[in-house]
Amino acid sequence: MNDLIKTILSHRSIRQFEDKLLTDEQIKTIVSCAQAASTSSYIQAYSIIGIKDKEKKKKLAELVGNQDYVANNGHFFVFCADLYRHQLIGEIENKNVIPSIESTEKFMVGLIDAALAAQNAAIAAESMGLGICYIGGIRNNLEEVKKVLKTPERVIPLFGMAVGYPVQETDIKPRLPFEHVYHEDEYEQSQEAYLKQLKGYDELISSYYEQRTGGLRKDRWTEQMANMLERQNRMYMKDFVQKNKLDLH
Ligand SMILES: Cc1cc2nc3c(=O)[nH]c(=O)nc-3n(C[C@H](O)[C@H](O)[C@H](O)COP(=O)(O)O)c2cc1C
Repeated sequence: MNDLIKTILSHRSIRQFEDKLLTDEQIKTIVSCAQAASTSSYIQAYSIIGIKDKEKKKKLAELVGNQDYVANNGHFFVFCADLYRHQLIGEIENKNVIPSIESTEKFMVGLIDAALAAQNAAIAAESMGLGICYIGGIRNNLEEVKKVLKTPERVIPLFGMAVGYPVQETDIKPRLPFEHVYHEDEYEQSQEAYLKQLKGYDELISSYYEQRTGGLRKDRWTEQMANMLERQNRMYMKDFVQKNKLDLH
């Protein structure tokens, strides 16, 4: 197993960091790695906003639902889908790019590009001995986040990433069975096989939580997912995205 694969397979989210900032060189390396990711048709439809300002970090930590590791970390990145610069490109080149920029397809391209860049950044940071935690909590209140970050129309902040020197040692969370995620040649539709695999996975996760919490928690994965999915959240998203002139048709 090479070192990169070891790094990837050792991933766990880190939520407690030393009080030590990343250097500009480290930030540049992480962003360069993000930028090296593949990008649909070379479109590069994303931006990354790094937050250094302490007050802004504190404000964001509040907005994401009081997650203090958003304020206390080595650096905080926000990944955005971004078609704003493509609007400018249309103006420079005198072409009507607006219907395309406003399509669901191009919004998806922005989401995919941003996610690919972010995961490259995550792996780069982890390979440097740093820990990371993605923060979807910024989508709790995008109107306010947009004000803090001053994002223009056609730019949607998608998630943050706290990066820093890890204080905690946390366990690796076991993932779904291989057969559940990887299908060969066609989608495996056997409900019976699915349910059997889920049962096995539930047992694994239940004992994982039990060991980790000294018996306080034993939840099954299916239980956890059903409880989460029973509640709808961030239902304002479609309106927000469309108000920002993306995903319109
Ligand atoms: C897009 C995205 C958003 C996330 N948002 C949060 C968050 O707001 N707060 C948090 O503590 N963890 C967040 N996470 C981390 C997940 O909870 C974590 O990745 C998952 O439970 C698996 O654990 P692991 O990363 O330790 O393997 C997020 C992960 C992703 C990919």
